[in-house]
Amino acid sequence: MARLVALCKRRGFVFQSSEIYGGLRSCWDYGPLGVELKRNVKDAWWRSIVRARPDVVGIDCSILMHPKVWETSGHVEGFNDPMVDCKLCKARFRADTLETQQCPKKPSLRPGECEGELTEPRQFNLMFRTHMGPVEDEGSVVYLRPETAQGIFVNFKNVLDTSRLRPPFGIAQQGKSFRNEIVTENFIFRSREFEQMEMEFFVPPEEADRWFAYWRQARFDWFKDLGISEENLRLRDHGEDELAHYSKACTDIEYKFPFGWKELEGIANRTDFDLRRHSEASGKDLRYFDDQTGQRYFPYVIEPALGTDRACLVFLCEALQEDEVGGEKRTVMRFHPALAPIKVGIFPLVKKGGLPEIAQRVRKELQEEFAVFYDEKGAIGRRYRRQDECGTPYCVTVDFDTKEDDTVTVRERDTLEQVRVPIADLRHWFRERIPS
Ligand code: GAP
Repeated sequence: MARLVALCKRRGFVFQSSEIYGGLRSCWDYGPLGVELKRNVKDAWWRSIVRARPDVVGIDCSILMHPKVWETSGHVEGFNDPMVDCKLCKARFRADTLETQQCPKKPSLRPGECEGELTEPRQFNLMFRTHMGPVEDEGSVVYLRPETAQGIFVNFKNVLDTSRLRPPFGIAQQGKSFRNEIVTENFIFRSREFEQMEMEFFVPPEEADRWFAYWRQARFDWFKDLGISEENLRLRDHGEDELAHYSKACTDIEYKFPFGWKELEGIANRTDFDLRRHSEASGKDLRYFDDQTGQRYFPYVIEPALGTDRACLVFLCEALQEDEVGGEKRTVMRFHPALAPIKVGIFPLVKKGGLPEIAQRVRKELQEEFAVFYDEKGAIGRRYRRQDECGTPYCVTVDFDTKEDDTVTVRERDTLEQVRVPIADLRHWFRERIPS
């Protein structure tokens, strides 16, 4: 992890938030390469979940919602972690994971193993509260949403009434969520401000088991298709005792992070809990009327819920590799071409003899379609190494032969193979190898 965090900072993937002021714990900023990676991850998810399917549509809800949403969903009452405080150092710990935490004063000890005594566990709500309007009283309390899912449930009827969809169908959303986590850990794995990509798939109750099995596999395959090796991925079904009270089944897709197997995405059968509760609390009938059978019912919901930042961390962990080129160690980020922040590096071999002008022409031609990076400074080998660390799958070099035959060298990041390609064919050549 230390190597990955250092590379992320060095190459501009992820920075500590407010770093010049000493940083804000558990908040992170994406730099120029990180923001491209994250955008590509979100686009890949949106394409596979929404665009490529006739039965899923998207939505984009506000972060602040009516406080009743969170009362009804159970988050005001029940979105708690049991906490203990150390009476000596005043640090706060999650009571259920003490064995994985450290005393901040004596990191070799677990909480409570120092001279400090721990308080009795108390419940601590994970939602951030703020106030809407100028008066800060109980009547103006609103919450920063802790999940994107509830925005989908409360818009279920709006979407149903304005589209021609009927169950089974899904509503997807991407966006920020906020949780005042007690323990934040492992870089962007768990933070207090993060993004989620969630989809609520509404189905006739008798079809729920079948759709749960479908999405469980589809989501697993999505990671494999984007280059995550199967030995680093596994499906873990929740036992009865782990299931939330509203959930009939739940499976985590887990990834083998450098700090162990951890949850990456959850797929849950949430039954009709949410629609039923919002229907009762709002007084609006959220049942679906099936005009073919004459039945009115609350659809069951199958929910794949993924953290965008956690997905980015998985793609970063999986990409980071070291190998040897010409007897020298090389750090290379082997991103799937669809996710790579930069698709093509473009270099003139030297900064003279008309080569930069040709390379700039190539840049103009390619940048209409691909994220490219132009670089004319330094030895060519170092420019290649730099792009290897950024995860750029292809580099184009313009040399003196280019002036003769209008071809360039294309170097492939993983195989190091070099081929000559006519400039006129470049766009098509990359189109065949880089999925958009
Ligand atoms: N609507 C269901 C829901 O939110 P969750 O398991 O609490 O379920 C879904 O969250 C996903 O969101 C997790 O699998 C994880 O990828 C991501 N996630 C949750 N809390 C997070 C945090 N504090 N930081 C980063 N990602 C988080």
